[in-house]
Amino acid sequence: MMRLWRFAATAVLLAAVAPVGDALAQTVKLGIIDSYSGPMAGVGEQLDRGIRLYMQEHEKDLPKGVKLEIIRRDDTGPNPAVAKRLATELITRDHVQLLGGAIFTPNALAIAPLATEAKVPFIIMNAGTSMITTKSPYIARVSFTLWQSSYPLAEWAAKHGIKTVYSVVSDYGPGIDAEQAFTKGFTDNGGQMLGTVRVPLENPDFVPFLQRAKDAKPNAVFSFVPAGKQATALMKAFGDLGLGAAGIRLIGTGDITTDEELQNMGDVALGVTTMFHYSAAGQRPANVAFVTAYKAMFGQNQEPSFEVVGAYDGMAAIFHVIDAQQGNIDPDKTMELLKGWRDDASPRGPIYIDPQTRDIVQNEYLRRVEKVNGQLENVELETIPMVKDPWKVLNHQN
Ligand code: PHB
Repeated sequence: MMRLWRFAATAVLLAAVAPVGDALAQTVKLGIIDSYSGPMAGVGEQLDRGIRLYMQEHEKDLPKGVKLEIIRRDDTGPNPAVAKRLATELITRDHVQLLGGAIFTPNALAIAPLATEAKVPFIIMNAGTSMITTKSPYIARVSFTLWQSSYPLAEWAAKHGIKTVYSVVSDYGPGIDAEQAFTKGFTDNGGQMLGTVRVPLENPDFVPFLQRAKDAKPNAVFSFVPAGKQATALMKAFGDLGLGAAGIRLIGTGDITTDEELQNMGDVALGVTTMFHYSAAGQRPANVAFVTAYKAMFGQNQEPSFEVVGAYDGMAAIFHVIDAQQGNIDPDKTMELLKGWRDDASPRGPIYIDPQTRDIVQNEYLRRVEKVNGQLENVELETIPMVKDPWKVLNHQN
């Protein structure tokens, strides 16, 4: 009996120190910086759901003996100092080989120099200001840029009877990009901007800004605000002030009709026309399967927004680099693998990472909010295929 016990104890000890199986156990560490608390926590939850859904479907596809450890950190919202501290800790203490996430542009910009210094590839899953990718050769973006949606929307508007526009955007990186992209696309095609205002990012009150827009009597208001509750607040203020009743249309980037908030916005959202790279209502088979899997995991009344898809595709890119290197992550090899990475069947359509700029190339869809079976949906009407970030094209960055 004694002997048996000693044997058992030795076996347990051995199991704890020695890797079992033919391949040496290998753990890849991925640090995720996301906004899990604060007023933007709903958006952060969307991004995290994309990670969870991808892991549920594909964890089994990791190379044999390779594990992915995801270390999640909460930047609490647009807070670059916190993002910088968290990225520093993830790199120096946790020794992550990859970074991902970043809802907000200022946070992505705070992390960029750390990615360069430590040579840690940083896969941006949301933040959309065009110039972010120029700030580190270790950044690849799988999300979108505001130029990608605002510029083609402006061209469409100018050609479809909208002659005058008033712009209302959030006063920071992506808002300024959206305003500048729309203004260029619209005025180059004969449209006239009647005014542009920028609303504070923190605790915005949209009423005085939309009142000014209403007084200018434009054909349409163009808007970008960060998705989530701000989008719903913008929509409500637009309705309450009677802009729609005064014959003013609302157009913008898809952030303002973000899918997970659409039912909360109510009928005021009907007819709002946006340009964007993802709609939960998209009829592509890959998207139908994606939405079905999402609802099975998170609830039948839940709709995946673009942040879910950004994170989901970001994980697909991460799995690609892990697979190609069998879990031995080399930073420069990783960046080479990300350049030109493509997925012809993302839920949003075909996507690829432009090798010159490390930025995403994807379809943009013209959408209008309509009621389908009693539910508000961003119905896709037209496709503008494989749009490269126009800011980079116009500034000869590629
Ligand atoms: C950004 O900060 O880049 C950002 C945040 C929320 C959005 C879009 C862009 O909906």
